[in-house]
Amino acid sequence: MNILFVCLGNICRSPTADGVFTQRIKEAGLFSKVHVDSAGTSAWHSGSAPDKRSQQAAKARGYDLSKLRARQVERGDFYDFDLILAMDGSNLRDLQALKPNNAKAEIDLFLRRYQITPFDVPDPYQGGAAGFEQVLDLIEAGSRALLAEVKQRL
Ligand code: 4NP
Repeated sequence: MNILFVCLGNICRSPTADGVFTQRIKEAGLFSKVHVDSAGTSAWHSGSAPDKRSQQAAKARGYDLSKLRARQVERGDFYDFDLILAMDGSNLRDLQALKPNNAKAEIDLFLRRYQITPFDVPDPYQGGAAGFEQVLDLIEAGSRALLAEVKQRL
């Protein structure tokens, strides 16, 4: 099963989701069965490591984001991934507009899929440290629910 997390820049929210969910997959012994990746709807930060603030907040909870590099969503993603999870409603709309008609991927809003509020993971880029902690709180909650779904589907 292949899962792609998507946000705007691919340097804050979606790499955090990538790091957190990859950790959950490893703990569950599913690393060989589930492929996890992340991408941005924009190419603004392509090639960059995650934002230092995201890396630091994640590291404090035991997640290493340092090796991740940003990339833009591409057409092939809609065929390669089973599930593409958007971090906010704007990312979801952008993905739906890009999605080819015969795409394989199911596209959904990450937190809404599991009735976790707020449905949008708020963009932390312009704000302070609390925003990065909230991103982690929401993504950890979403990842628990997603892991339960993945276990059921495998
Ligand atoms: P992300 O956060 O979408 O969670 O990676 C952002 C990163 C960069 C920008 C906006 C949001 N930006 O405007 O450069």
